[in-house]
Amino acid sequence: MRYHYFLLITLLICAAAADAQNARKTESFNTGWKFFLGDEPRAQNSTFDDAQWRSLQLPHDWSIEGRFDQKNQTTQAEGGLPAGIGWYRKSFTLPLSARNKNIFIDFDGVYHNSEVWVNGHYLGKRPNGYISFRYAITPYLNFGRKKNVIAVRVDNSDQPNSRWYTGSGIYRNVWLVTTAKTYLTNWGTFVTTPNVNNKAAEVALEIGVHQPSPKNKLSLQTTIYNAEGKVVVSQTSPVKNTGDTSIVVHQTLAVSKPKLWSVTRPYLYKVVIKVLQNGKVLDDQLIYTGIRYFNFDADKGFTLNGEPMKIKGVCLHHDQGALGTAVNVRAMERQLQILKAMGCNAIRTSHNPPAPEFLDLCDSMGFLVMGEAFDMWRKKKSKYDYHQDWDKWHVKDLQDQVLRDRNHPSIFAWSIGNEIREQFDSTGINISRELVGIVKQLDKTRPVTSALSEADPKKNFIYQSGALDLVGLNYHQEVYANFQKNYPGQKFIGTENMSALATRGHYDMPSDSIRRWPKDGKTPLKDGNPDFTVSAYDNVSAYWGSTHEETWKIIKKYDFLSGLFVWTGFDYIGEPTPYLWPARSSYFGIVDLAGFPKDVYYMYQSEWTTKPVLHLLPHWNWSAGQTIDVWAYYNNADEVEAYLNGKSLGIRKKTGDDLHVMWRVKYEPGTLKAVSRKNGKVIMSTQVVTAGEPYRIQLKADRSHIKADGKDLSYVTVTILDKNHVPVPDAGQLIKFKVGGQGILKAVDNGSQTDLDPFVSNQHRVFNGLGLAIIQSNNKSGKISITAAAEGLQPGQLIIESDR
Ligand code: GAL
Repeated sequence: MRYHYFLLITLLICAAAADAQNARKTESFNTGWKFFLGDEPRAQNSTFDDAQWRSLQLPHDWSIEGRFDQKNQTTQAEGGLPAGIGWYRKSFTLPLSARNKNIFIDFDGVYHNSEVWVNGHYLGKRPNGYISFRYAITPYLNFGRKKNVIAVRVDNSDQPNSRWYTGSGIYRNVWLVTTAKTYLTNWGTFVTTPNVNNKAAEVALEIGVHQPSPKNKLSLQTTIYNAEGKVVVSQTSPVKNTGDTSIVVHQTLAVSKPKLWSVTRPYLYKVVIKVLQNGKVLDDQLIYTGIRYFNFDADKGFTLNGEPMKIKGVCLHHDQGALGTAVNVRAMERQLQILKAMGCNAIRTSHNPPAPEFLDLCDSMGFLVMGEAFDMWRKKKSKYDYHQDWDKWHVKDLQDQVLRDRNHPSIFAWSIGNEIREQFDSTGINISRELVGIVKQLDKTRPVTSALSEADPKKNFIYQSGALDLVGLNYHQEVYANFQKNYPGQKFIGTENMSALATRGHYDMPSDSIRRWPKDGKTPLKDGNPDFTVSAYDNVSAYWGSTHEETWKIIKKYDFLSGLFVWTGFDYIGEPTPYLWPARSSYFGIVDLAGFPKDVYYMYQSEWTTKPVLHLLPHWNWSAGQTIDVWAYYNNADEVEAYLNGKSLGIRKKTGDDLHVMWRVKYEPGTLKAVSRKNGKVIMSTQVVTAGEPYRIQLKADRSHIKADGKDLSYVTVTILDKNHVPVPDAGQLIKFKVGGQGILKAVDNGSQTDLDPFVSNQHRVFNGLGLAIIQSNNKSGKISITAAAEGLQPGQLIIESDR
């Protein structure tokens, strides 16, 4: 939403320079901060000397800069990185002209227990680490030459407070917002599309205005622009004088022949709202809206704009792997691009409100989003988690999430909680009703669900509350086929599924027996691998879950099963089920922590997209005579034939509900090839080749041009090749990086779940042949050179460019 304001400002500058002087200003407040790791209560005073503190820019996550250590207060479930207390301070001045304005400071998210002071004045505490919040600071400010000081204390020392990696610090953006005394209230505008068909759509607006003097004669002008920037419709209405300082205005505009928003064509209209007084713009706001309608049906499942659509979703935690939780738009965009290419069309932001920019990306890239509020209510899951703040904060936190996010076309459902303990006892009834009531008061356009782990309707008190619009089941795929019988007339969504486990590039034979790990999660896994790997044939899952194929086959089969959310799209830091330390990040991802797809990615791609897929696994470096299972995922073809060194291994066809084919092969080195055919015609072919000794380092950037804005990223993949350019699948060399020119090495990774070397470093091992260097522009345009060296290998070199 924030950068929408920037776009709006550009728009307005072009439209009328005079208007811009009056309208709101939203400035990034990320630069020029000082940081101290530790507690320093004197730092709240404006006179405190922070000259010795570290200078940095927000967003910032101090945990990710630390070292993995079992002795850290965070548990293994939280990733074992350091937490603690940190202080941030920033000095700033404001022009005299701002004296007659209203000034606010907006925090998109601080993990957690933040307390804020401006010029020594205490503004308040916000315990929830995922919620956005604002302080009105006008009365405490200095204008002109006298400087202001803002101080923020962040306390993440109350460990454990989570079941996954949270990050620590001001990890999302901060904004300074300046408005006139009359302004559009924060999150006070709600845009909905109550009536939509191909010929026309109604765009209904509820607009909140704060006017200090009810004598002012105000009007509201709303203009809708199409994606090409042309005005579609505009309406001006007087603001009725009710005598109140806080007013809500309703408008309805008609858009003829609307272009509907969908996951395949995420068409966005711009809605520009202006508060006018005698022709002067006092405030303005830009909201992107998508015109769309959707429905859940107890028999037919989900439809978007009248078209049946299976929800092919994934759950995501908020960390961006080696970057930690510090918000970076390009990192989130890359993650979503990788998922989009797999055919994923929905995200569940488990188990908390996401960064606002994440939802902007989902709006513009075409993802549906289930916005989730809580992982616990009054009953705890970890000793110091949000249950402590529940009584005081849950109403405000839930309201704020809905208010902040309800204008996003991507949001299509709200979840009031994940596997909440109160589902098991009667206290769940009232709390469910209360929470659903809070949501409905602010947004009646989306169904409300909760991710339930008790699948017996009689024993589940959240379900028994009767408050849910959608029954969200986590796991328990064994009851899905009977859902209509057990939950008569109810609508289904698989809120969380699978929890299958895999390490990228690691394969155990044989592949056709299924393992359910762990047994209890507390003792070392007896039949686990000594090197803490999990086979990447889709045949290992948590005991409460299933393999990917097992659940997808069921969801696919029945129309009344509207869809699912796979746990998870990407590996995340923390929760390294099924292993104990040194495992420190999860095995659940379809994609590893570094962003490299595991093999099952291609199963989904073959099922969830129409683009031709033929993917062969495993790699082809084994011991002579070993029996190896060869799998292929494919689509758009009738059969696949595999060849080893030119000799056919036979033709395989998927039959029944098969999602892959297999050959059991006596290994010999060479070339393993597969060819897919339809009606006898070759559709695709692919091969894996036995690699020789590691010989050189190859570097490949996902983007060779990045923006010179100090934020943009290029993800450089490191591959170890042999003399014949064949990737070496088990390479594990230590790579030393040098980055020169207009960029920095932001972080390194390799997707291993057990590598305890730090992410912020200029060296890192490759894992199963691959490594990752994340390069960031340093704010200047020019060339960025990257070199990667390792003992005994030819170095890799790459030049990328950063441009203004
Ligand atoms: C679920 C839970 C998730 C994650 C997952 C791991 O029960 O909702 O947050 O812990 O298990 O399998």
